Amino acid sequence: MTDQSLVYDTSMEAVMMKVDLPGNFIYGAATAAYQVEGAWNEDGRGESIWDSFAHKKGTIRDGSTGDVACDHYHRYSEDVAIMKTLNLDAYRFSISWSRVLPEGKGRINHRGLDFYKKLLDSLLEHDITPYVTLFHWDLPLYLQEKFGGFYNRQCSDYFADYAAIVAKELGDRAGNWITLNEPQDYASNGHFLGEHAPGHKRVWEFLKVVHHLLLGHGKAVQSIKAVRPESKVGITLNLMPVHPRTESERDMNAAGLADQFMNRVTLDPLFRGSYPEKLFHTLRWFKPKVEEQDWDYITTGIDFLGVNNYTREFAYHVWYIPLLHTWMTGGDIAETEYEKNGRQYTSMGWEVFPRGMYDVLMRLKNEYGNPPVLVTENGAAFDDVSPVNGRVPDEKRVQFINGYLHMIARALQDGSDVRGYFVWSLLDNFEWSVGFTKRFGIVYVNYETLERTIKDSGLWYMDFIKSQKNRQGEGGKG
Ligand code: FCB
Repeated sequence: MTDQSLVYDTSMEAVMMKVDLPGNFIYGAATAAYQVEGAWNEDGRGESIWDSFAHKKGTIRDGSTGDVACDHYHRYSEDVAIMKTLNLDAYRFSISWSRVLPEGKGRINHRGLDFYKKLLDSLLEHDITPYVTLFHWDLPLYLQEKFGGFYNRQCSDYFADYAAIVAKELGDRAGNWITLNEPQDYASNGHFLGEHAPGHKRVWEFLKVVHHLLLGHGKAVQSIKAVRPESKVGITLNLMPVHPRTESERDMNAAGLADQFMNRVTLDPLFRGSYPEKLFHTLRWFKPKVEEQDWDYITTGIDFLGVNNYTREFAYHVWYIPLLHTWMTGGDIAETEYEKNGRQYTSMGWEVFPRGMYDVLMRLKNEYGNPPVLVTENGAAFDDVSPVNGRVPDEKRVQFINGYLHMIARALQDGSDVRGYFVWSLLDNFEWSVGFTKRFGIVYVNYETLERTIKDSGLWYMDFIKSQKNRQGEGGKG
């Protein structure tokens, strides 16, 4: 870690929004195994679909892989020390399934488990609460090749077995589990659009993969609770407002369908025990077989809902897209533009839309029974420059995080049961199909030396957390 002055320059205070959060609000940062760990073939780890996907030519924009990534596997102590410096209450990370079970089932790799034990010990020593995601997209390759991965219903059982093994082995150290990260994204990007592993462009796989993932989630909630009844278990969904691009009836209809495709396809089964009708009718030839007892699993009570929110989408009618006749755009913007028509964008081309966070939280309150929520990811990629005198000025990211936290505080005032926030990401890391071209970290990573430097946004977050806690100490509402 670079030696830095840890005093954050508050000159941008004028444009900052006021945020008052309760004293017990949880502040964290998140990562995922394949994006940060590296050590892809060490200590008995089996291959995952992301290893094989990234090793193929032409899949990742800059030709990079997660072979080394941030080398978190070897540098976790330094990273935990950084978390401590940042005043984090909690760290969300994921377990590489094939590190623990190289074939995804059966044989346990104890050296892989040892890594997570050491990481957890280090977190606990520093008084940082672990939130452990069990599946953040890196399916063991063996399960994909031998069984077709989550296209095969059987995979839901393999997942529940793996979850129980991990809960049993690590449950003395970790008590908060997130079964799946963004099942909709996994199914759409991996099985339908082909941009993520396993790289399939097969529309007929989409709903089945979603169903088998949700089934796996439900079974895992039960299998975790069976071995560790005291655990808290949730699932993380990527939720966003979908607005019609114009007021035309066709675009309004497109937005309704797109909302079912993006949000309701997972929300409705989990909270209502049904799939959204219009979407299911539209894709009726590709429906999964839903057995009666599936609903008992899928609607198993969760202790919290993880929400990832970054942006909103605009949907519109397109005649040439088969079946759905719908497409979505974040705003038709080149990735190099940060502003267009008075709207701001990140370098992913995603609109900065803090209000969307409020809308998502209020929707959960009003339409889905107000579950306890943890915002398990929120953050932004901007074109950060390498450190100068130990500083990485990233005002845009500070404003982004502050704006979204402001909206979380407002939702809380309006009755949302949101309890914590994890910034994506702790570290710059391997951003899936765009490799290392996009930096999301509040900590800068030099990919040649692997040196870490806390960005100004990290220093800001550190001060923000402290000031929120101090305010509470001074008699603010807790
Ligand atoms: C989310 C993923 C996470 C990261 C962010 C930018 O969809 O869960 O791993 O890539 O997007």
